[in-house]
Amino acid sequence: MTGTDLRERVAAHRWYHSIDLGNGVVTRGIDDTPLRLARVQLPSSLAGRTVLDIGAWDGFFSFECERRGAARVVAADYYSWHGSGWGAKAGFELAREALGSRVEDVDIDVMDLAPERVGTFDVVLFLGVLYHLRHPLLALEKIAAVTERLLILETVVDLVGLRRPAMAFYPGRELNADPTNWWGPNQAAVVAMLHTVGFDDVQVVTPTPGAAYRGARALWHRVKGRNDLRAAFRQDRAVFHARKSST
Ligand SMILES: C[S@@+](CC[C@H](N)C(=O)[O-])C[C@H]1O[C@@H](n2cnc3c(N)ncnc32)[C@H](O)[C@@H]1O
Repeated sequence: MTGTDLRERVAAHRWYHSIDLGNGVVTRGIDDTPLRLARVQLPSSLAGRTVLDIGAWDGFFSFECERRGAARVVAADYYSWHGSGWGAKAGFELAREALGSRVEDVDIDVMDLAPERVGTFDVVLFLGVLYHLRHPLLALEKIAAVTERLLILETVVDLVGLRRPAMAFYPGRELNADPTNWWGPNQAAVVAMLHTVGFDDVQVVTPTPGAAYRGARALWHRVKGRNDLRAAFRQDRAVFHARKSST
């Protein structure tokens, strides 16, 4: 594929991730992918590891794990690959072709994950999906069953500042005006849920921003008409690294 062919094919898609496909072609995703890559703190080397990327969408994080030496990477998704308002799988497939990638794909809902269906993996990525689920604790139980060593979880957190484990419920469009968002746990709730489903060592690897920053961001969200001001002040995103004791 020449650079011009690739550019034309890339322009025909709506992208979620920004992916450098080579030949000077970078997909224009709506996600701030470079910022999120820095925040999730992937291991610098994944040599020989197996990786499952749950909710992979365009696959940026799957391709990045392959680039870091993973022996096998499986990208899993369902909603955004079936055009039901989220997006389509064509972006993932084009990126895989352009990168000459060997990342595998599996169409599966997180609630159907099980060792008998997909096997088990050294490293599991669960980025930007938890708050979209109606049954987050059950989902984490399914994920723990397919994780051998390390789970990297990134999510919206809410009720920032409340120490007791708790979750905010979004029955409507309270979070980002998106009706597919259901739950915003606080950090303590995520840590407690991860312990509950069998992870012994759980670290929060992102700093909690101060009140001034959260205030400014809440105002910005209000201006964009996305969130209620007071609620947005309590919201953030956080990354967790959870390990099992055998690792
Ligand atoms: C905000 S995007 C995050 C994409 C990517 N993981 C990232 O962090 O950049 C949410 C993704 O989760 C997927 N998703 C939502 N609910 C899901 C479910 N029940 N099972 C599997 N994937 C789901 C969507 O299809 C979408 O690709």
